[in-house]
Amino acid sequence: MEQYKRLIRYLKPYWWVVAIATMFSLATSGISGAMAWYIKPVIDGINLNKDIHIIKTFPLLYIGFFTLKGLFSFAYSFLMRAVGSKVVRDVREQLFKKLIGLPMNFYVNRPSGELISRVINDSNVLQGLLGYSVKDIIVEGTSFLVLLIIAFIRRWDLALIAITVLPFSFFVINKFGKKMKKISQQTQEQISGLIIRLTESISGIKMIKGFRREKLHEDKFNEENKKNYRVALKGARTIEYSSLIHEIITGIGSTSILFYGFYLVFHNKMTMGDLLSFFAAIGMMYTPIRRLGNANNNLQQARAASERIFYLLDQQPEVDGTKNLTEIKNEIVFDNVRFIYPGTRKKVLDDINFRVKKGELVAIVGKSGAGKTTMVDMLPRFYKPVSGSIFIDDIDVNDVTLESLRKNIGIVSQDIILFNETVMDNIALGKLDATEEEIKEAAKAAYAHDFIKEMLHGYDTIIGERGIRLSGGQKQRISIARALLKNPPILILDEATSSLDTASEIIVQKALDNLMTNRTTFVIAHRLSTVRKADKILVLDKGKVIETGTHEELLSKEGMYKFLYKSQFEKDAHNI
Ligand SMILES: Nc1ncnc2c1ncn2[C@@H]1O[C@H](COP(=O)(O)OP(=O)(O)OP(=O)(O)O)[C@@H](O)[C@H]1O
Ligand SMILES: [Mg+2]
Repeated sequence: MEQYKRLIRYLKPYWWVVAIATMFSLATSGISGAMAWYIKPVIDGINLNKDIHIIKTFPLLYIGFFTLKGLFSFAYSFLMRAVGSKVVRDVREQLFKKLIGLPMNFYVNRPSGELISRVINDSNVLQGLLGYSVKDIIVEGTSFLVLLIIAFIRRWDLALIAITVLPFSFFVINKFGKKMKKISQQTQEQISGLIIRLTESISGIKMIKGFRREKLHEDKFNEENKKNYRVALKGARTIEYSSLIHEIITGIGSTSILFYGFYLVFHNKMTMGDLLSFFAAIGMMYTPIRRLGNANNNLQQARAASERIFYLLDQQPEVDGTKNLTEIKNEIVFDNVRFIYPGTRKKVLDDINFRVKKGELVAIVGKSGAGKTTMVDMLPRFYKPVSGSIFIDDIDVNDVTLESLRKNIGIVSQDIILFNETVMDNIALGKLDATEEEIKEAAKAAYAHDFIKEMLHGYDTIIGERGIRLSGGQKQRISIARALLKNPPILILDEATSSLDTASEIIVQKALDNLMTNRTTFVIAHRLSTVRKADKILVLDKGKVIETGTHEELLSKEGMYKFLYKSQFEKDAHNI
């Protein structure tokens, strides 16, 4: 019941459109009633009174009825479709707003295809179903009553026979409604499965080709597609099966009535006009019953889709703090920070403790998978510690507003995210109100200006989804330009120069050196030159800080740093 109420609430802003549509629809029901009603005077007039006048007026009357009925159904169908589209638009708006505000935690372990399916597909299911179901329940319910009254007036005992089949009909409606809900749920899940497969194959197309795995992916897709087909078939079978049962019930009902009716007419207990008028009313009544059944099926399908929609809408959004973080004055402190990714058990960060003074350069080194990226992700609160806290100037980062926190932090991340917009827009992400001059300055400082100028439309070139039209190093330089433009007091560089060749790296490193001056910088680096300059080096291993100190201090110990230095940095050392 709660769920129905919540669903119907989407119609609330458009209640007056639904109301107008319902009126038009009620008018068509009225006309149906009138058509059944007037059959008696027409037939009896011709049959008993031999009234030629009726033969002349009858066509005009019925053409009028049909035309009006057509016009009214046009009006309500159009209005209801409009309402359906408005509801889908509103639901999608709401879903997207919700999605974009959910914390990173939510996105871990969730395939993007599933979320796409919820926003596009589940909302689409509401299109026809919701508005029509509500209208049908009102209108067909009324039609049914009007026709039933006419039937009773014409011949009450016949009407009684006719309605004995009703409980059977309602039983069938209810039973199939429940089944439809389950099938609809399965359908939505199957579609979601299809989209997941599709997005995965398209985004990994290069790997699929490289490893010649086309057939494998085809098989996986077909398997998913087949499941989808089977559920669709099951749905079709259920709907048509419910129609079949209806037909049989209707058939038995009408034959009994016809039999008894003819008997009454034969014995002059009833006129032919009465019988046909009655029969028209009963005949027209089965349509509303079937529509009520469909409305029930539709509502069940809408419920199935809405369960998935409401699941998303009920997720907790990223919690915002209240304190305003001004520029860092003193220090950043990690205090006993522990972190576990949702849905896993491994402590990715375990008892991390360190302090960084304002303006210091901190290098974080460690083997792949040690937890370096995760650690720096905690600072802008992409993830919250499971226990422990992070302070900036004695304020817990959990308490500050996301706006002020993230304004203070610039990130050049390991996986660079570019949008399918112009180069200009991609750099401007760092500062939305930046002037063209500022953007070009930033690009120059990041050594990106030259290659951008050579692109077909220069700064106005659209760089493709995920920056597909750029090389790895070019993406990295755009990302650096973003950070330069943003000009934040705290900077995070996660392997910022890893995709550059030695020559460009030396150049970009100069840009980064400029960028790092007067900022508190966390740098995850593989280059000795950067690490050696650091005021503090944190050596991370299996989620723990196992060594801290300057380059010289750490080299004097026989520890992990010395090992890393020997294996990883030594070859660099030769180059310098
Ligand atoms: N989204 C995630 N869900 C679950 N576990 C994750 C997730 N991201 C990372 N991990 C795990 O957390 C650990 C630390 O990962 P992290 O990316 O922080 O390592 P890293 O030190 O940055 O490694 P690299 O040098 O390769 O970038 C890894 O063991 C990894 O398996
Ligand atoms: Mg990393």
